[in-house]
Amino acid sequence: RSHREPPGQPRRSRPTVVGSGHTPGTPPRPHRPGSSETIVSTASTPPIDATTTPAWADLTAHQAALDPDLRTWFAQDPGRAARLTFDAADLHVDLSKNLVTDETLELLVRLADDVDLVGRRDAMFRGDHINVTEDRAVLHTALRRPAGAVPGLTVDGQDVDADVHTELAKVYAFADKVRSGEWKGVTGERVRTVVNIGIGGSDLGPVMAYEALLPYKAEDLDVRFVSNIDPTDVAEKTAGLDPRTTLFIVASKTFGTLETLTNARLARDWLWTELAAVGALDIDSEDARTAAVGKHFVAVSTALDKVAAFGIDPANAFGFWDWVGGRYSVDSAIGTSLAIAIGPARFEEFLAGFHAIDEHFRTAPLAQNVPALMGLLNVWNVNFLGAHTHAVLPYAQYLHRFPAYLQQLTMESNGKSVRWDGSPVTTETGEVFWGEPGTNGQHAFYQLIHQGTRLIPADFIAVANPAHPLVDSSAGEVDVHSLFLANFFAQTKALAFGKTADEVRAEGTPEDLVSARVFSGNRPTTSILAPALTPSVLGQLIALYEHITFVQGVVWGIDSFDQWGVELGKKLANEIAPAVAGDASALAEQDPSTQSLIGWYLEQRS
Ligand code: F6P
Repeated sequence: RSHREPPGQPRRSRPTVVGSGHTPGTPPRPHRPGSSETIVSTASTPPIDATTTPAWADLTAHQAALDPDLRTWFAQDPGRAARLTFDAADLHVDLSKNLVTDETLELLVRLADDVDLVGRRDAMFRGDHINVTEDRAVLHTALRRPAGAVPGLTVDGQDVDADVHTELAKVYAFADKVRSGEWKGVTGERVRTVVNIGIGGSDLGPVMAYEALLPYKAEDLDVRFVSNIDPTDVAEKTAGLDPRTTLFIVASKTFGTLETLTNARLARDWLWTELAAVGALDIDSEDARTAAVGKHFVAVSTALDKVAAFGIDPANAFGFWDWVGGRYSVDSAIGTSLAIAIGPARFEEFLAGFHAIDEHFRTAPLAQNVPALMGLLNVWNVNFLGAHTHAVLPYAQYLHRFPAYLQQLTMESNGKSVRWDGSPVTTETGEVFWGEPGTNGQHAFYQLIHQGTRLIPADFIAVANPAHPLVDSSAGEVDVHSLFLANFFAQTKALAFGKTADEVRAEGTPEDLVSARVFSGNRPTTSILAPALTPSVLGQLIALYEHITFVQGVVWGIDSFDQWGVELGKKLANEIAPAVAGDASALAEQDPSTQSLIGWYLEQRS
């Protein structure tokens, strides 16, 4: 892995312009766009402790005095819904069913000012090394800048725009070749199935987006995704495939990830064996095997030397850069499988969607800035209302992998106990994100959201126009999508307004059952609507959550772009592997519980 230093010993990044003169704990002077003031990077200065800011103190007092009552708030304030609904590109976002007043939002925006959210945001877009512990820029937003954007973006001597568009052109040219059939396998047949091999950000983004955009996929091409090192994954995903028409994409930022390299080797063996089985390969000929890999394997990575060492021709490799975090990489060459499936034109629309939200986040005043407000609301829910988790509930079956995708984005980014200067965090961070598509979730876990003892903020996501506008003729020409969305609207209404004991009684409920049927309401939700699940809207949704995650990280003072917490388990897996393979001395070095578990496992293995 390219990670260079242990956690807790952050490296100091190079400021863009030295000499911040910033005193820790006080907000730095923000740069005024258009002014001749020198831009001062605060990338490596200690984070401002949000909990010591005046806004935090005011929010604490405000929360103590607040008695959330959405019924009364809506009844007394007919303008509430309109005032707390915002549009960002194609996204229509209603925040009004959250447990906030206008004053709450004003205070949250003040908190953002106190921690210099705008300064940090601008530093990110500018390419300052805000990934402090890895001393890297954070430039996923550069991946979707349109060609020819003015002014251009040069960071650390790299012409970022030129490199991004050169690489995109390579991906598009390759995608076109595969889609048109110009790219041929060893027997001269065209590709029918693409298998993306990757894990984490090299899998979750591509598979989520592929599933979300299935209606845009080329009919004569399918994509499968192998991620787990559980050998059943590669076995199941290659089952039934014709090796002559199968193309593997090995996607790995580092090209050093155990799961991906193991699966890539298994896939390569599968290819050779299956090609030989159909008489398309002399398996004893190294040249023939190399030629087969050349036609059936491509790679996506930042480590092109390792790609070559694996046996994939670097000419068949697509690159990206260390300033793209794995969980922020679906819009880089990591999305090659998606670009093949939906084609370059649709992929361009996907990128344009991201960019539209980037521009909104970069330019909208914080009080109307949807990612900023949603990130601040999450801070409110976590730090002032005590929420531990956050549900994401897409009312769009094509978004069924979106919550899983968001789990890596949010939890790998903000699951931190130290701040970017290595000091302990000063408040709770990183809530647990989870979810399932509605209405399935309604029949599984919504009970707890409605009547449990925990506060669970939830984002409801839906589109107005489905890909399949089916009508239930037998039930009287019912538009099924409208019925589906009736559930969305009903759930958010029930969560907000609940049902009082008097209302339950009025239904004739026996007194001893009344309390079980009461819904307290005041369960916060955000509703996100879009016209349709187009490539652009999907890009907008992803960018929205990327920036929400960033906003929370800035308030908490954490580096949302490293992931040291996954390193220990990886290291131990390598150390334990010999013990699991039967090495007695390696087994003896393990703790008693691990020894016993491995011992039981070894006994059971036939
Ligand atoms: O283990 C965590 C992680 O580093 C993720 O951040 C990343 O998305 C995933 O592993 C896969 O890494 P790579 O793309 O380098 O194979």
